[in-house]
Amino acid sequence: MKILILGSGGREYSIGLAIKNEDAGHELFYQSGNGATDAIATNIDIKDYNELALWAKENGIELTIVGPEAPLVDGVVDIFKSHNLTIFGPSKEAAQLEGSKVYMKNFLAKYNIPTARYIESDSIEELYKFTDTLSAPIVVKADGLCGGKGVIIAQSHDEAKKTIGEMLSGKAFGDAGKKVIVEEFLDGYELSMFAVCDGKDYILLPAAQDHKRVGDGDTGPNTGGMGAYAPTPLVDDALYQKVKDRIIRPTLDGMQAEGAPFEGVLFIGIMVVNGEPITLEFNVRFGDPECEILMPLMTSSVADMFYKAATNRLGEIKVSFSKQYAVGVVMASENYPYGSSKPAEIILDDVHHEEIEKYTHISFAGVSKGDDGKLYTTGGRVLLCIGLGDSIQQARDRAYLRCGQVHFAGKKFRTDIAYQALQD
Ligand code: AMP
Ligand code: GLY
Repeated sequence: MKILILGSGGREYSIGLAIKNEDAGHELFYQSGNGATDAIATNIDIKDYNELALWAKENGIELTIVGPEAPLVDGVVDIFKSHNLTIFGPSKEAAQLEGSKVYMKNFLAKYNIPTARYIESDSIEELYKFTDTLSAPIVVKADGLCGGKGVIIAQSHDEAKKTIGEMLSGKAFGDAGKKVIVEEFLDGYELSMFAVCDGKDYILLPAAQDHKRVGDGDTGPNTGGMGAYAPTPLVDDALYQKVKDRIIRPTLDGMQAEGAPFEGVLFIGIMVVNGEPITLEFNVRFGDPECEILMPLMTSSVADMFYKAATNRLGEIKVSFSKQYAVGVVMASENYPYGSSKPAEIILDDVHHEEIEKYTHISFAGVSKGDDGKLYTTGGRVLLCIGLGDSIQQARDRAYLRCGQVHFAGKKFRTDIAYQALQD
């Protein structure tokens, strides 16, 4: 198949790598890819979605896979479908599950899907009134996409009210904050679950855990994610079943009833409180870095899964997963997540160690290729070292062995990825 992948991060690299590793002769293209995707694919540069769809038609693209949320919320799937192209991802309407937190919360409430108690409003009085009924900490969320920064955990009522005011005035997040959600704080442990959906059927992937804070021990500011592992032992069969029955099935049925069947990756951010899964949020695409550790755990065809999902035929296939564990450690630039960093040359040691060669690999994200053919960091999250193993400990040790072979000025990474699975 000729396959086009939209995006340029580690998530998209890992999807392409998994497809390439299938050795099924698929030909890959990226819009726009990064400085390393050109080793497994052809990078193109066509930003306008209509032009891109025409290019896809002319070039016989048989499947398009969309990585990030922005093109989904902008309606790239609708545009491609109007050109009779096969594309994996939700429609613009269904993408509102991520694009608008108000839409998502109201959807969850309408279909009785467990979520934190909340109010959504554009009235400061109403929001203040509800805030007074909660005890701190209090969660305040802007409605629209804010690049992962639109959620504030306020430690006091005063801080919550100040945040509400700043969001409503447009000062904090512009139009994305014109509507605000105030909700109760849930105290538990967080999981990421991913269901690959075709509107009606779904395949649930092994549960993963992300590490959002920049520093060891979950300290410092939030990031896009500093590392992840899967499957997590924090989920047993009973919890998987609850997530299926209480969250995924009613969501797929509900979206059908809304006239916006959900096709694509349903990313469920879950807080487990006293053994019960509560929906924190939905995203409509894979998590990054969760995707990078889930792709290498798939033993059945990744390309076929996406193709069957995109053609509403998931019921026809069985998907299988390795019995191993995967741990991914993000290596980020010096100033991440505070600001940009100067480009730095990336030096990768030659691998001579059999264990590293066999059980680890790199997924490239914020990298560009210089005129000298060398790889340079572009700031942000640069790459991930992924280790596979028979235990989480082994997978983690291997991932960190690989980290030791990557060099660039200012590199930073957490040293405790998967700690929650390894404590006591
Ligand atoms: P969201 O973008 O909604 O996932 O929120 C970002 C992060 O804020 C989540 O990953 C959680 O760590 C945290 N968070 C969001 N909502 C809540 C809540 N109701 N209670 C506790 N933590 C929350
Ligand atoms: N790793 C979390 C996210 O992609 O949103």
